[in-house]
Amino acid sequence: MKILVVGSGGREHTICWKLSKSKLVSKIFCAPGNAGIADIGKCVPFSVDDIPGLANLAKQEGIDLTVVGPELPLTLGIVDEFEERGLRIFGPTKEAAIIEGSKAFAKEFMRKYHIPTAPFKVFDDREKALRFCNDTRYPLVIKADGLAAGKGAIIVDNIQQARNTVDSMMVDKRFGDAGSKVVIEDKLVGEEVTVMAFTDGESILPMLPSQDHKPVFDKDQGPNTGGMGAYCPVPFISDRLMVDILDLVLEPTIRGLKAEGRTFKGILYAGLMVNERGPKVIEFNCRFGDPETQAVLPLLKNDLAEIFVSIVDGNISLEDLTWQDACSVCVILASDGYPGSYEKGKPISGLPAKQTDQRLVFHAGTKRAGDKTVTNGGRVLGVTSLDVNLHDAIAGAYEVAEKIKFDGSFFRTDIGRKATMRKSKFTR
Ligand code: AMP
Ligand code: GLY
Repeated sequence: MKILVVGSGGREHTICWKLSKSKLVSKIFCAPGNAGIADIGKCVPFSVDDIPGLANLAKQEGIDLTVVGPELPLTLGIVDEFEERGLRIFGPTKEAAIIEGSKAFAKEFMRKYHIPTAPFKVFDDREKALRFCNDTRYPLVIKADGLAAGKGAIIVDNIQQARNTVDSMMVDKRFGDAGSKVVIEDKLVGEEVTVMAFTDGESILPMLPSQDHKPVFDKDQGPNTGGMGAYCPVPFISDRLMVDILDLVLEPTIRGLKAEGRTFKGILYAGLMVNERGPKVIEFNCRFGDPETQAVLPLLKNDLAEIFVSIVDGNISLEDLTWQDACSVCVILASDGYPGSYEKGKPISGLPAKQTDQRLVFHAGTKRAGDKTVTNGGRVLGVTSLDVNLHDAIAGAYEVAEKIKFDGSFFRTDIGRKATMRKSKFTR
C-alpha cells in the first residue's frame, strides 16, 4: 500500500515510523512532513488544511490510504471530502470531529449521555458570562469553545482574573472566533491521564494509558504548551480503573455519537482527570495526542497499517491490542521562547547516527537546509526511550536528549517523575 500521512509533528513522525515497519506498506508520503520524516518517506509541500490539494495528490499518486494527524483538517471535513471522491482515509468525519472542534458541543454531549465531567455553563454573551463570574465560587476554568492549539483553557482563582479572561476571549478575541463562545467549568483535582482508543464507531480498542506534561517548566510551572513530554503506561492507573474508563467514558461516547448520526471512526482521545472517585473527562480529541503518541505507539506490537485498514473497512477485530512489556518515556526538546514566540533556523547537532527501537528521536519542528538539519518550530524533537522499567527509560531518554544541541534548546528535566513518586494506584 501507498500511504499518505497528513501533518508535520512528532506524532506524524511516530506514525510514519510505525507504518514503515508494516508488511502492508510499500511507500509513505507525508504532507508536509519534516526532516526526520524525509528519511523514511517522501515529503510533499502541502499544508494540512489544503484539503482539495491533498485529495488531488492522493488521486495522482494512487494513495491507498490517507491517515490524518492533526485536528484542523478533521474539523474542516477532510474525511468527508476524501470519501466523496472515493479515496480511503482514516479519521472521523466533520460531524464526529466536532467532539474536539467545539467544547460547548462536547460538554453538552457529556451531560446528555451522563459521561462524568466537571459541572459547566456555556456563554455566547459577555454580559451573562460576567454576571455568572460575579456570583460563583472559585477556582474555575474558562475555555474558548473552538480550537486553540491546547492553549485555550485558563484557570482562574478569583473574579478579577475571570473577568479579564472572559474579556480577552470574547472582546479582545485572543483566540479569534474560537472564543466567541466560552465554557466555564469547575476546576477538577487529581492526576491528568490520557487514554486513546482505536474505534470503528462500534468496537473500541483502548491503548495503554499515558501521561502528558503540559506546562512548559519543571514541576508544572509556567504556561501550558502542546505537551513537553509523556510516558506510558501510567503505573497508578489500575486495571479496574481502565475498565471504568472504558465503561463510563469511551463506550457511552462512541454509542452516543452513533445515536446522533455522528459515527466516529478513528482515534478517540480522552483527556481525563482521575482521583479516588474515578475518572472525569477534561476534553475529547478526535485524533492521536502529541506527545503521547511518541510514547505509546513504540510499545504497540500490532501492525499499525492493519489496524487502520480494518477500521476504515469496518471490520475491526475485537482481539486485544498487544503491547511490549516495557515502559517508554518521551522528552520534548523545544526552542527558547516556546510556547510564545521563538526563532527558527538553528542548526541541530548531536543527533544519534543510528536509531534503535529502544532509543528513538522523532522530529517535529525541523527541516533540511543544505546538508544541515535546522529548527523550524517550537517543539523541535521528541526523544523516546524504552526500557524494562520507568526509571531506566527516563535515564535513557535524558542520556540522548542531553547530547542533542541547538541554539536556545531546552527541555523539562522531570518527565515521568510523577509516576516514580506516586506510591498507590487509583482504584475507585
Ligand atoms: P483543554 O483545552 O480542555 O484540554 O484544557 C487544557 C488543560 O487545562 C488541561 O490539560 C488541564 O491541564 C487544564 N484543565 C482544563 N480543564 C480543567 C478542569 N476542569 N480542571 C482542571 N484543569 C483543567
Ligand atoms: N498532548 C495533548 C494533545 O495532543 O492535545
